[in-house]
Amino acid sequence: MSVFREDFLWGGACAANQFEGAWDVDGKGASVPDMCTNGSHTSPKWITTAIRPDRLYPSHEAIDFYHHYEEDIALFAEMGFKCFRTSINWTRIFPTGMEAEPNEKGLEFYDKVFACCKKYGIEPLVTISHYELPYALVEKYNGWYSRELIDLYMNYCKVIFERYKDKVKYWLTFNEINTGTMPLGAILNTGTVQGYEGPVSQVPDNKQERYQALHHMFVASAEAVAYAHEHYPQFQMGCMICFVTSYASTCDPDDVVANQRQMQMMNWFCSDIHVRGEYPYYAKRFFEENGIEIKAEPGDAEILKKGTVDFYTFSYYMSNCITTHTDGEKGDGNIITGFKNPYLKSSDWGWQIDPKGLRYTLNEIYGRYGIPMMIVENGLGAYDVKGEDGKIHDSYRIDYLRQHIEQMAEAVKDGVDLMGYTPWGCIDLVSASTGEMAKRYGFIYVNKFDDGTGDLSRERKDSFYWYKKVIASNGEDLG
Ligand code: BG6
Repeated sequence: MSVFREDFLWGGACAANQFEGAWDVDGKGASVPDMCTNGSHTSPKWITTAIRPDRLYPSHEAIDFYHHYEEDIALFAEMGFKCFRTSINWTRIFPTGMEAEPNEKGLEFYDKVFACCKKYGIEPLVTISHYELPYALVEKYNGWYSRELIDLYMNYCKVIFERYKDKVKYWLTFNEINTGTMPLGAILNTGTVQGYEGPVSQVPDNKQERYQALHHMFVASAEAVAYAHEHYPQFQMGCMICFVTSYASTCDPDDVVANQRQMQMMNWFCSDIHVRGEYPYYAKRFFEENGIEIKAEPGDAEILKKGTVDFYTFSYYMSNCITTHTDGEKGDGNIITGFKNPYLKSSDWGWQIDPKGLRYTLNEIYGRYGIPMMIVENGLGAYDVKGEDGKIHDSYRIDYLRQHIEQMAEAVKDGVDLMGYTPWGCIDLVSASTGEMAKRYGFIYVNKFDDGTGDLSRERKDSFYWYKKVIASNGEDLG
């Protein structure tokens, strides 16, 4: 007997900016990722203030899901997907984010995508904003630093809620909102990069701007949730956190306390607000010590209380270690780096693989909030090389996913309420941190390469057939 719910949402996840391409087609405007060049593990991608003809912008074509969506969703259906997490590209609907009327062509595209999902019985899970801020809002407002963005986001939400109300039930207000607590989040998330051109790794670190921007995002999220609850009671509204579990490197109490602080501000801060409807007690000291002053308006506290989410979702790829000692060896990571854990192996990109940490994390989250949870990103970014038979034999990816699903099962046995699992990049797409194609996550290989070449054809990897069995057996057959 499977330990997972009968209606467990097995599926996969993507983000519009990383796979749709068609960046300026049918009236779409430029979003922040459209201004980002390609890069690699060793050479950071850049954000530019205008499109530079001598640079390559991987989101512009990406894997062209825009013109391949029928073929791709058919492949997801072949694997037996129950759920497909994707995002709506804000700039397809409002090209600059500021128009009075939405772009009908953009709306029609998602009509077709969701209708196609419905045809196969696939439940869409929609991220309203997945690192896709209209670049015009960066130029005019310095992104979420300006309070005006709350109303602009609400205009966008109202349009997509009404348009897709019969097709979409599950919504996430912001992808990995907590990346806004880190310098790179200024590009990915808060859009507080007005006028900055340069490597994403050197973006100026302005905490005051980022935390003020986050405040506006919390209010916007809560307004959207409250509005949805009032007008569309059938909707389920969720938050989404980039969860990077950390451990104290040693049992030195200084390490333990340092890790507690790290866990609070990295992993809990944003969801404490989304789920509990107020700033957590520990934020006050953090703000004081970092010279941060949040300007709130009357009514903000009420709206935060009113707009608490129905379910909690998160990404989980890796864990790291925190120490106050200076002899630790640094590890790598997507958004955040910590110290190496001698008990863990790392991916080709240095992310420390920690399946048991997923069981631990699920228990920690459920113990804190006690609401249904979903893992909406997990997976192994790896170099895929074709075998002599021309196929991708990605046993390393299968091993990674198997070990994580085993630990999900343990957590369910522990008693956590897990709704579903949508591994990241179910079809190969552009990497968010490096802008590469070479870092592949998919069950489906896409013939597209870092230099922009490739015929975009799709091929099933070994993991495709494996995941199909996993879904068919509701997570029992992991062989
Ligand atoms: C998450 C993001 O941080 O990790 C995705 O929500 C991203 O957008 C994923 O693609 C994997 O990271 P990367 O850098 O390997 O693409």
